[in-house]
Amino acid sequence: MTQHATLTIDGKTFQLPVITGSEGERAIDIRALRRETGLITFDPGFGSTGSCASAITFMDGERGILRYRGIPIEQLAEKSTFVETAYLLITGKLPNREELTRTSVMLNDFSLLHEDLKFFYQNYPSKAHPMGILSAMVNTMRSFYPELIDLEEEISKTFLRLISKVRTMAAMAYKISKGHKTVYPRPNYSYGANFLHMMFDNPVIPYEMDYDMVQALNVFWILHADHEQNCSTAAVRVVGSGQVNVYAAISAGISALWGPLHGGANQAVIQMLEQIQNEGLTIAQAIARAKKKDDPFKLMGFGHRVYKTYDPRAKIMKKMCDLVLKKQRLNSNGQGDTLLDIAMELENAALQDSYFQEKNLYPNVDFYSGIVLRAMGIPTNMFTVMFAIGRLPGWLAQWQEDSQDPMRKISRPRQIYTGETLTDYIPIDERE
Ligand code: ACO
Repeated sequence: MTQHATLTIDGKTFQLPVITGSEGERAIDIRALRRETGLITFDPGFGSTGSCASAITFMDGERGILRYRGIPIEQLAEKSTFVETAYLLITGKLPNREELTRTSVMLNDFSLLHEDLKFFYQNYPSKAHPMGILSAMVNTMRSFYPELIDLEEEISKTFLRLISKVRTMAAMAYKISKGHKTVYPRPNYSYGANFLHMMFDNPVIPYEMDYDMVQALNVFWILHADHEQNCSTAAVRVVGSGQVNVYAAISAGISALWGPLHGGANQAVIQMLEQIQNEGLTIAQAIARAKKKDDPFKLMGFGHRVYKTYDPRAKIMKKMCDLVLKKQRLNSNGQGDTLLDIAMELENAALQDSYFQEKNLYPNVDFYSGIVLRAMGIPTNMFTVMFAIGRLPGWLAQWQEDSQDPMRKISRPRQIYTGETLTDYIPIDERE
């Protein structure tokens, strides 16, 4: 039997259906609210608003749970690869051997870029941020590659083309920004290994593949692959709802991810740790500044709209820090990254501080991901690009789910108008 919530307004009572998800989360269905009552809801930032029904990712912020298609993130990080996880998100199931091989072969086949795309890169100013370049290049791809949307097989080709080429584009942006020769992908490397090869190989010092780094990269991308209706995914769905091509919708997601409150937080964490180090701030001073309302200094990598406990991804990322830093110490005669020590002290102090406890502010995935990327040799301004490569399968899965949803409508929120009431136009000579 359908449950209802009762709303009483101006003495009149309305019954609103309550819908329940497969994990027991409940929502009041307000689709008929305005038609029946003349009222709208008001929820800036959408903290209490469900924008869609989705079968892709489940997260429970109070219990620190994250699952893709039902599978816990911990199991995927330990046992899966990024390519397999991407397949899972997009198709809804883990691939069998044949499906995985076919996917890997297609990712290899699509890994080259049209040579003319290089000219776009070369005309960017050398200081341009790679996120701006990536967003523009993905939009540009629509002019080079057809969007195949009619058959399931064709959609998966478009998706794999994007997943493969975004990685090549990211590495190419880095090489061009350094003024180095671009490196072509190699068919005998896996997805992650190929990325490291294209980033770090050069004609003078060939890159020696380090499979611990490949594993850390896989885990980093798996942890970022989807996170239900976050800012950039919501952007992909909202832009996609106008029925633009998939490249434009993904480009919008990349732009949304760029901000320091979202995907840019991993870069912001490193900048914050460096600031603490360079200005010689003590941990107590940093914590005190983060708590001050009139100080722009924030504890980046702390807090989350949904997680009110430890972000499960942050726990896994912290373990990855140990793996890559051990490796880095080995390769650099015992010299490690001192930023990790600052990060760990900061985390301990914040977790014991009543301000952070009362507001349920815990480390999120970005608190440790920047340290992992740094140890891999990824430059700070590429961190958010790394996040974008990881999030791409999630955006594609969400875009696909939205475009196949029979209830889909163009996204068009309403507002409460607070401006001037009716005002007459004043000719320019009569204005003060
Ligand atoms: N440092 C200090 N205080 C904080 C922090 C922080 N990192 N995060 C939240 N607070 C405080 C706020 O000032 C606010 O205090 P108030 O109630 O006294 O006004 C309270 O905690 C609630 O914070 P909101 O900003 O209202 O929470 P919201 O859910 O809107 O924002 C967000 C979540 C954006 C992630 C926020 O915690 C933040 O800015 N964190 C730092 C940036 C960051 O790490 N972003 C990455 C998010 S994860 C991701 O995108 C992969």
